[in-house]
Amino acid sequence: MPSLETGRLQLRQLTPEDAPALFAVLGDRETMLWYPRPFTLEETLGRIERYMGLYPSGAGLLGIVLKENGQLIGDCGIIWQEVEGVQQPEIGYHMHRAHWGRGYATEAARAVRDYAFTALGCTHVISLIRPGNLSSRRVAEKNDLKLDRIVLWRGLEHCVYRMERGR
Ligand SMILES: CC(C)(COP(=O)(O)OP(=O)(O)OC[C@H]1O[C@@H](n2cnc3c(N)ncnc32)[C@H](O)[C@@H]1OP(=O)(O)O)[C@@H](O)C(=O)NCCC(=O)NCCS
Repeated sequence: MPSLETGRLQLRQLTPEDAPALFAVLGDRETMLWYPRPFTLEETLGRIERYMGLYPSGAGLLGIVLKENGQLIGDCGIIWQEVEGVQQPEIGYHMHRAHWGRGYATEAARAVRDYAFTALGCTHVISLIRPGNLSSRRVAEKNDLKLDRIVLWRGLEHCVYRMERGR
């Protein structure tokens, strides 16, 4: 997975040194409301190491960095997920609470979506979102993903938002 650039953001590969900054996002109770629980610092580091293993294949969440000051404020990228028995490229994103509502997640996810279609050759992308997670659903909708179905995924109801390449 290479670096991606948008108007306001750089998306770059995460390294273990990013663990404290990413933990400020993934360790926050309100941010992780739709997850079983917030991550610990060790779990955050473990995720970064997992992503580092995925980067050569073009998957893995990248760090979202504000171009104006170099601050790491979230993550966004592709993770392949098995949904109803099929491996599918999911766009995932998490943003530091202090930066919500400024369009950053939408901007990052759009760049990742386009990267999946062009560089990775994906025929479609999905996002798996808990029904009550309205801000995440809005991000998907603003990037032209449409609600396809609701599935039981990891024991919990999830909306499958989906977009086909070329739509
Ligand atoms: C989801 C998340 C990444 C969005 O980040 P963000 O940078 O604030 O997103 P954006 O600013 O690009 O867009 C958010 C949209 O949701 C809307 N929104 C926020 N709260 C909302 C609510 N309670 N109900 C409806 N819409 C809401 C915003 O108004 C905005 O839409 P708009 O541009 O039409 O006004 C961020 O809230 C987050 O990190 N959430 C926790 C982690 C998470 O749930 N990740 C997704 C897992 S599926």
